[in-house]
Amino acid sequence: MDTEVIESAIVGKIVIGWNSLGDLRGWVDELSPFKVGVLTNDVVAKFWLDAVLQSLDGDISLFLVRDGEDAKSIETAIEIWSKMIKNGFTRKSLLIGLGGGVITDLAGFVASTYMRGILLILIPTTLMAQVDAAIGGKTGVNFIGKNIIGTFYPPNVVLIDPQTLQTLPREEYLNGLAEVAKYGIIMDRNFFEYLEENARAVLAQDKDIVTNIVKRCVMLKVQVVEEDLRESDKRRILNLGHTIGHGIESASNYRIKHGFAVSVGIVVCCLIAEKLLGFRETDRVIGLLETLGLPTRHNLDPKRIMEAIKVDKKAWYGRQVMILPERIGSVRIMEVPEDLILEALTEVAN
Ligand code: NAD
Ligand code: GLY
Repeated sequence: MDTEVIESAIVGKIVIGWNSLGDLRGWVDELSPFKVGVLTNDVVAKFWLDAVLQSLDGDISLFLVRDGEDAKSIETAIEIWSKMIKNGFTRKSLLIGLGGGVITDLAGFVASTYMRGILLILIPTTLMAQVDAAIGGKTGVNFIGKNIIGTFYPPNVVLIDPQTLQTLPREEYLNGLAEVAKYGIIMDRNFFEYLEENARAVLAQDKDIVTNIVKRCVMLKVQVVEEDLRESDKRRILNLGHTIGHGIESASNYRIKHGFAVSVGIVVCCLIAEKLLGFRETDRVIGLLETLGLPTRHNLDPKRIMEAIKVDKKAWYGRQVMILPERIGSVRIMEVPEDLILEALTEVAN
């Protein structure tokens, strides 16, 4: 299958293709950097660092951080900035971020702030990062709250090789599938149907199907971000199920992964949309999510989730504004009364 190159002034150049990691050298040469550094973690390094280093030559600085969300911190950024200064990185240097969303967010943040911005290539290696985190220029570290400190900084190149997903733990692959299904529901009915028809191959991680779904999701996200980089309006649709999802993650003390929480959040939004917009396709959405191995119910106290949602919302808008489907493939942004949210959360509680 051909490698696809999406060129966009807003989100940078995005290259998607099976084995595209082998083309890294060409993309680096095009940027002709003064120095090159690779930022990754010990888990990803074990599987994919050799492939990256083999396609580069010269003196490469390695920035190795520990695995996990905790690495997305200002302290880690300080360690990397310090090493960059020590290794003589200038404004013409290049940072390559190799890993999941934690690494791509951190690499983007470090690259955007070091000497007011240096060259950046992202190589996302989780499904979550390939279809979401590495696309659209949001960078950040956690500070007191999640993603509190960050920038918008489109990378020069995002190099997506779906082959890297072959070493991903099953749970992480499923985690990314919730975001994949989300794109179908918010803006592409044909894609939703494609997922229904090919669910078995999606789960079997068929090479062509996985490459296709990554390409389609990236194109859809680029379409949204080109219209609204800074999330003043249209970009908010990417948050379908996320308000409820964050509440579920928080109420479970982060035992429930983001994608799984979003999956339940999507169902809750469908139930609310039945009442407010006459949405009639909840069963079909639940059918796809369950076929993809995603949860559609929770075991938590609905009131506890509601409290967590309110804390989250207080910090941002102070109102319960949600993304609701009017039909599969189309959503509206609406204010939702609290009692409807609690009712829907109770309906999907075990
Ligand atoms: P992650 O980066 O923690 O990766 C999940 C796990 O998979 C980690 O243990 C990682 O080491 C491992 N891993 C990564 N690639 C692998 C591979 N190919 N083989 C084996 N193991 C591999 O988690 P994630 O879900 O990718 O990303 C979550 C982060 O992304 C969060 O911090 C979230 O805030 C951020 N995010 C950002 C945006 C954005 O727009 N910037 C969007 C969505 C999520
Ligand atoms: N993940 C949501 C966004 O990029 O806006």
